[in-house]
Amino acid sequence: MSQKTPRNFFKPLAIGAPAPMQELPTRLERMIHFVPGHNEKVRSKTPAMAPKVDVILANLEDAIPADAKDAARAGAIEMAGMYDWQGTGTGFWSRVNPLNSPWFQDDVTELVLKAGHQLDVIMLPKVEGPWDIHFADQYVAQLEAKAGLTRPILFHAILETAQGMSLVEEIALASPRMQGISLGPADLAADRKMKTTRVGGGHPFYRVMEDPNEDGSARASVQQDLWHYTIARMVDACRMAGINAFYGPFGDISDLDACEQQFRNAFLLGCAGAWSLHPNQVDIAKRVFSPAPDEVKFARRILEAMPDGTGVAMLDGKMQDDATWKQAKVIADLADLVASKDPDLAAAYKA
Ligand code: GLV
Ligand code: MG
Repeated sequence: MSQKTPRNFFKPLAIGAPAPMQELPTRLERMIHFVPGHNEKVRSKTPAMAPKVDVILANLEDAIPADAKDAARAGAIEMAGMYDWQGTGTGFWSRVNPLNSPWFQDDVTELVLKAGHQLDVIMLPKVEGPWDIHFADQYVAQLEAKAGLTRPILFHAILETAQGMSLVEEIALASPRMQGISLGPADLAADRKMKTTRVGGGHPFYRVMEDPNEDGSARASVQQDLWHYTIARMVDACRMAGINAFYGPFGDISDLDACEQQFRNAFLLGCAGAWSLHPNQVDIAKRVFSPAPDEVKFARRILEAMPDGTGVAMLDGKMQDDATWKQAKVIADLADLVASKDPDLAAAYKA
């Protein structure tokens, strides 16, 4: 037998560690806002930024120069104390360096021992398979026990290798600590040998062309989504495991329209949020990952038309049944969550 028994799956992995969560906390995670831990100027804006976003993440991995890794870690621990993370609706996460790096052990040890009470989620990059999650799971349990934590820290894996992609279902199911998975389009493109230097988004050369015209005139072609398969598979893996999928970074911070479109595709396919690498992507994510007021109104009409969720109803010529009731519930529940945090949208959903 290569799996834990059902009863053991939810047992703490170290004596004195908190019991794993059976249900994930229901939290709004429309954007995971990246802050370079070593950058004093950006870091100092944490208390002002925290109320404007759903999650702030102290980044210790890529984009942090090797000689600033210690400073980034110290900065992350400072950020933990800069805001009342547990008393508000804003999550505090950190992206640590990969398991095979010289920094992983110090990153995780110091974060859990010095900031474990504030830290909600550790983002693990370049996860190759369930064995990476198992190692980190055991190690973090030991540290949680040592730190006397009463609430377990969750894990978020980044999907950024071909092997990780092939094993995404096993990664999603590897531990009750798993909170979600993000697409890492830059690392994944490199590992797959995709021929693009872009970080997420489309590519002008990835298209489908219409058949030749009889008159020999120019044929239309349309750009396709390079990431469709990856995101759809990631969403299935995550939802099977009862965790959330996230679009990762959109690297061209000057192309707000393309960012919005890519985020929207991810939202429609089932993702809960995306990363924001710049404050101008925060508003995009807020807009895209909150359901539109019209959709919310229609969803609520469906729920009202079928109070017990069964049977059939006609609304504006559209047939509703038990399945569309469930679709409506997804939108209405998300709207309630958004409304609990965002007074403007709460008003728009009521109007
Ligand atoms: C993110 O880490 C990426 O590699 O795209
Ligand atoms: Mg990466």
